[in-house]
Amino acid sequence: MDIEGRSITITPMKPEHIERLAEIETECFSTPWSYESLAEELSNPLAVFLVAQYGGEIAGYVGMTQVIDEGYMANLAVTQKHRRHGVAHALLEELLQHAKEHELSFITLEVRSSNEAALHLYKDFDFEVAGERKQFYVNPVEDALIMTRTFR
Ligand SMILES: CC(C)(COP(=O)(O)OP(=O)(O)OC[C@H]1O[C@@H](n2cnc3c(N)ncnc32)[C@H](O)[C@@H]1OP(=O)(O)O)[C@@H](O)C(=O)NCCC(=O)NCCS
Repeated sequence: MDIEGRSITITPMKPEHIERLAEIETECFSTPWSYESLAEELSNPLAVFLVAQYGGEIAGYVGMTQVIDEGYMANLAVTQKHRRHGVAHALLEELLQHAKEHELSFITLEVRSSNEAALHLYKDFDFEVAGERKQFYVNPVEDALIMTRTFR
């Protein structure tokens, strides 16, 4: 995909991505996934982890666990430097394509209730609020909204 003359490429997560993705986790979240927890996903047969490169640099990633026909999205992060260039959009487009090809019933996720950027993004992809989890997050403590995209 070419956006503003710079290409976004999406590939499955590979060992050489892990170090940079762990840095992006630290940049984006107060309770980041570690290098080790990301690396474990490489050998998890249920994991669907996709990495985006923007203009040749690792820009972000999305991670989901697939259990039979159910998708549980755990992580979506784009480094500050590459935000608002369609990287998350491209990652979600690819993940939803995977979901359709594998006949998932739904993808569900939790998001901080104040995370306007993510809420906009998920609504653009027809995720709907399906519930909430009180005080789900720490650092700072905050409620989570459960958002679900159904496919049938
Ligand atoms: C949320 C996040 C992944 C978006 O990544 P991104 O690559 O900048 O997003 P995109 O450029 O693909 O934007 C796609 C859409 O998301 C929404 N969006 C993204 N950033 C936004 C912002 N700051 N404010 C409002 N809407 C925003 C818009 O609807 C946007 O579409 P538009 O550009 O046509 O208006 C990124 O801000 C991020 O990594 N944040 C920190 C980690 C995080 O919160 N992850 C989600 C956890 S549930």
